[in-house]
Amino acid sequence: MSLMDDARAVRERAYVPYSNFKVGAALRASSGTVHVGCNVENVAYPEGTCAEAGAIAAMVAAGDLDIQEVAVIADSPTPVSPCGGCRQKLAEFGKADTKVVLGTTDGLLIETTIGELLPSVFSTEHMARS
Ligand code: THU
Repeated sequence: MSLMDDARAVRERAYVPYSNFKVGAALRASSGTVHVGCNVENVAYPEGTCAEAGAIAAMVAAGDLDIQEVAVIADSPTPVSPCGGCRQKLAEFGKADTKVVLGTTDGLLIETTIGELLPSVFSTEHMARS
């Protein structure tokens, strides 16, 4: 089973009564363990969480801190593009060259990296004088 298969499976559990847009994310950690997440919306809209954020929370809770590969899937015409906040969250635990596969439910795939998704990442280097 590929990492995208894991993302596809967890996507089915997304809680999306407001957008009706289900997203699934799967992360392979350096330990080899796969952590998954789906988007979970809320009637107070800004309180909803993205699939990627859910997968990262599951990963950290399980004791992993290094992302080796990411897969994200949605039923979109073109492969889903992680939001800006999730790009920064992925950068916290991955590297610039960490592989990210973005997919659609009908099989389109794009392969990119965390660095391509967020070229000017905010990092601890920016806080060097503090
Ligand atoms: N969403 C994600 O879960 N991940 C993304 O990469 C893009 C957007 C969710 C947030 C919200 O529940 C729904 O998709 C519509 O924005």
